[in-house]
Amino acid sequence: MSKIKYIIAFLLVFSFGGVNESSADWGGVVSYQEDVYPIIHFRCLSCHKTGGTGEEASGLNLETYEGLMKGTKHGPVVVPRNPLVSNLNVLVEGRAAVRMPHNKKRLTPCDVEILHRWVQQGARNN
Ligand code: HEC
Repeated sequence: MSKIKYIIAFLLVFSFGGVNESSADWGGVVSYQEDVYPIIHFRCLSCHKTGGTGEEASGLNLETYEGLMKGTKHGPVVVPRNPLVSNLNVLVEGRAAVRMPHNKKRLTPCDVEILHRWVQQGARNN
């Protein structure tokens, strides 16, 4: 629970601080390890792990950074610095007919924003 409160507090600071695409308004850069992976772990891995239904259907294995960057059997789902065309963002933001997590509760706006900004900042393994 405290982690969720932390993320919400973080996002509040960010949203009231004004949006500046290029710099670290929230007092830091979005981190793959600390910010992005926990979302994937709790909301995506049940299907996108080796042998999971999502992995079998799409080829997308989200267990590692390398797996995320490799993408599906059809190609990458992350285009660094371009969340508008990255399928990772398109699907969690509800911009396509298919939505992720598949047939499950949507990600919170905070989680969606974290993924968006991580891609915008270059989708680094940081
Ligand atoms: C309940 C299982 C399940 C969960 C949870 C899930 N997925 Fe999926 N995912 C799937 C299935 C099944 C497919 C294949 C869908 C298809 O081809 O229509 C898929 C496909 C995808 C694709 C590839 C779509 C394409 O372009 O072909 C992406 C990207 C994706 N998931 C991201 C995510 C992310 C990010 C999360 C967590 C926020 C997530 N998924 C959670 C089952 C799941």
